[in-house]
Amino acid sequence: MNIDSLFDLTGKVAVVTGGGDGIGKASCEILAAAGASVIVSDISLEKAQSVTDGIIASGGKSAAVECNVLNSADLKNLINFAVATFGTVNILVNNTGIGGGGRENPFKIDRAYVERIYAINVFAPWQLCKLAAPHMQKSGYGSIINITSMSSINNSPDMAIYGSSKAALNHMASNLAFDYGPMGIRINNVGPGATRTHALASVLTPEIEARMLAHTPIHRLGEVSDIAGAVLYFAAPVSAWVSGQTLMVNGGGVQTLD
Ligand SMILES: NC(=O)c1ccc[n+]([C@@H]2O[C@H](COP(=O)([O-])OP(=O)(O)OC[C@H]3O[C@@H](n4cnc5c(N)ncnc54)[C@H](O)[C@@H]3O)[C@@H](O)[C@H]2O)c1
Repeated sequence: MNIDSLFDLTGKVAVVTGGGDGIGKASCEILAAAGASVIVSDISLEKAQSVTDGIIASGGKSAAVECNVLNSADLKNLINFAVATFGTVNILVNNTGIGGGGRENPFKIDRAYVERIYAINVFAPWQLCKLAAPHMQKSGYGSIINITSMSSINNSPDMAIYGSSKAALNHMASNLAFDYGPMGIRINNVGPGATRTHALASVLTPEIEARMLAHTPIHRLGEVSDIAGAVLYFAAPVSAWVSGQTLMVNGGGVQTLD
């Protein structure tokens, strides 16, 4: 058995949303390090370009494109850009997601908020799956990874919309696994616990951190590299017979507000 080949993505093309920062950036970097050509997309072209520049400087292959996942035309352009630039799409990481952080008082949020969260967290991944799947099937290798959350299975106050949107994504993937399996495409979810990113920093206080750590057996918050390792596992041939699954990467714990 050759360990390297189990994780080798040479010749594969990966597309990552929200790749300019945090978990998305770490996912772009690890996929490129495994040999994939990586399309880094983000609402901020500047951030995407900086990740691409870093990958190329390290000897990898990458291209950056602006993509606001709220915009259907941007999603179509993203897949077209990947095909035009690197020939196909083999790996799709639906990383972009917003909401939660214990800021969803059910009596203070309105319908527009709910629609926005679902549009970014659920509708965009669904549309990208639909756009990318034919290319994956044609190329003979497809793996889709959705970044969901511990919140998809946790119950916490003021988290109903974010939590349910991530749960929808989990369930969508476990069903799509049946549709996509015969096409040679796998689809899985990575559910991070609280992971040190700019998004987490916007809600983290010393009190919240202490509360989270009290329920985290591996006594620290997550780093983006912890999550990216799981993304690589699902992207690579090592997980060739794994589909429809959700892997929580959370230090073994149950953290509210993640
Ligand atoms: N950090 C955590 O603790 C944590 C925990 C559980 C789940 N998650 C999930 O992980 C994913 C990534 O979160 P993160 O913490 O790395 O976030 P982050 O804020 O560090 O990075 C998010 C990136 O997405 C981009 N982005 C924002 N809106 C966008 C849009 N409409 N279209 C395209 N790009 C957009 C931003 O510019 C940024 O580069 C999200 O789905 C989030 O729900 C994070």
